[in-house]
Amino acid sequence: MWKDVSAPYSKFESWFYDSYIAPAMVPFLDQLQEELGIDLPEKGFLLDVGCGGGQILGEIAEKFPLANLFGADLSEEQVERANHRLASYKGRVQIRQGSALNLPFPADKFDLVLSNGSIKHWPDQGLGLSECVRVLKPGGRLLIIEADRGCRQSDVDRLFAHSRIPSLFRPLFRTLFLLKVSGPSLDMDDTRELAGNLALAEWSVSRIKNLPGWVLDGIK
Ligand SMILES: C[S@@+](CC[C@H](N)C(=O)[O-])C[C@H]1O[C@@H](n2cnc3c(N)ncnc32)[C@H](O)[C@@H]1O
Repeated sequence: MWKDVSAPYSKFESWFYDSYIAPAMVPFLDQLQEELGIDLPEKGFLLDVGCGGGQILGEIAEKFPLANLFGADLSEEQVERANHRLASYKGRVQIRQGSALNLPFPADKFDLVLSNGSIKHWPDQGLGLSECVRVLKPGGRLLIIEADRGCRQSDVDRLFAHSRIPSLFRPLFRTLFLLKVSGPSLDMDDTRELAGNLALAEWSVSRIKNLPGWVLDGIK
């Protein structure tokens, strides 16, 4: 992944992301839920595309105890981690190995399709987004969250302040984030251009408060 941004995460990358980076996002989930007004029907269907080790799905499973939760990820290592982490929710959480470019789900299935930090890896981002829209029910909601190529350094520092990375190493990780994570990602204008081609009734792209990222928020 460090050499080729669209290659599947290796065992080491999966472990590193799951241990040090994903936990830094979790404290922001309440803020995001409030800011974005994220909700689901009681027994609604949600898909997390590029779900990684399933930390976000785990939080969602606690908040929406009757919802049917699905995850898809390209990396077998990440699927294994997510299955292990979410084993106690068996029956209402299912993780599948698969690509965002060819989602292993029928059309019009989900009330909410969510993706955090994954679209920068998709080799055809327009195709991946149109797959996310295909599997959404009419009226369903799309939330794509990603590192912003035009992010502020202070927002990167705020993200790492919540990570398990020792403070001595954080300047190094800030540089790596800017070079290897936000650098190869999309900025808000790129995302608006892609969103304009989707079969969405309404959409917006905005910066997320206190995080080095943007959100594409749409309704099918
Ligand atoms: C930065 S991690 C984010 C993981 C998780 N969403 C989170 O926030 O903790 C990006 C994830 O996207 C997955 N990914 C990369 N390319 C993908 C693709 N084409 N289709 C589906 N998942 C992909 C990777 O395997 C990785 O687990």
